[in-house]
Amino acid sequence: MPDNQRYIDTLNELLKGELMAMNIYKETDDIQGDEQVTAMLAEFARDHQEHARLLTNRIHELGGTPIETAGLPGAMADITAKVNALMGPSHLLEQIYGGEDKGVHAYEDRIDELDPKSQELVRRIMDTDHDHLRRFKERMEAEKSRH
Ligand SMILES: [Fe+2]
Repeated sequence: MPDNQRYIDTLNELLKGELMAMNIYKETDDIQGDEQVTAMLAEFARDHQEHARLLTNRIHELGGTPIETAGLPGAMADITAKVNALMGPSHLLEQIYGGEDKGVHAYEDRIDELDPKSQELVRRIMDTDHDHLRRFKERMEAEKSRH
């Protein structure tokens, strides 16, 4: 299905971002040392896991093969996140806020390349990610006002 392949490739790229976020949140939530941030990361990791599941299903529906890992870029982002987490919640938050922001932009930039059904799915995913950005931002501002 050459026509679907374009959609499948785009969805796989978006899936990579979800897998990266999910892994980072899962692996750093208990390192950075702030209970409120731990709870946020655990909750958002579940959201990204759900997004990954939805994208994986959609890729299957289109007859494609979903990626299963975020590969080398994912592994490298993971290492950076662990280092930041060890330095404390504000360092980690700065990195992952940037990651979420990039993720939302990737969805915004690529949504027009998708078929209508995938677009609808991507819109739902973006809603959740906007919520993540808003809540990370609130938490980062609370952090700053404490110093
Ligand atoms: Fe998110």
